[in-house]
Amino acid sequence: MIKSFRTALLLLLGMGMGLSQYSVAQDLVSLRGHAAPDEASKVPPQKQWQKDGEPFARDYVQQPPLIPHKIKGYKINVKFNKCLTCHSWANYREAGATKISQTHFEDRDKNVLANISARRYFCTQCHVPQVNAKPLVENTFKPVEAISGK
Ligand code: HEC
Ligand code: HEC
Repeated sequence: MIKSFRTALLLLLGMGMGLSQYSVAQDLVSLRGHAAPDEASKVPPQKQWQKDGEPFARDYVQQPPLIPHKIKGYKINVKFNKCLTCHSWANYREAGATKISQTHFEDRDKNVLANISARRYFCTQCHVPQVNAKPLVENTFKPVEAISGK
């Protein structure tokens, strides 16, 4: 008896949580809009990639710096990495780019390698270019004093 009462209570709770999640989902519109999964959705307007510019200030100490330039057509695959043609230690001077930092040469056991570590090879896993997009939700995050000086 107690067991089934608890189950019923849990079920009710679960339904409540499900419902509240549903109302949040109603406010947030996905790129597909509210189209049903089997309906064709409207093509979303294309975002504009920012023009090449100065590096962005970082928001927190451990942040992978944002990419301050376009990366359209920059391939990264097993054989070739376009980013490294400018950002590797061999090429950064000629390209006038920032060289990848030493952390990019460490494997997950903290062994320091002679070349870029596999876990840092796919740059866009962590580094992202910017578009003229409005934030989906409000964000009041403020950088720490060590970065902002405030
Ligand atoms: C044609 C050369 C070139 C290529 C290719 C290139 N970059 Fe850059 N990148 C630059 C230059 C130049 C800068 C700006 C350096 C400056 O003004 O201080 C820069 C800046 C950056 C920064 C900002 C560094 C900082 O300290 O804020 C990041 C991150 C970055 N690039 C990532 C990438 C990634 C990821 C790719 C590949 C998808 C890539 N870049 C491809 C030349 C290049
Ligand atoms: C797993 C996440 C990750 C990947 C993958 C990654 N980075 Fe980074 N990168 C970071 C972080 C975090 C920082 C800032 C702290 C640091 O230097 O490690 C950084 C810093 C940098 C900087 C600035 C260095 C400096 O001295 O200010 C450059 C340039 C850069 N990365 C380029 C690249 C390129 C090019 C690739 C691909 C070959 C790449 N990163 C792959 C996380 C990543």
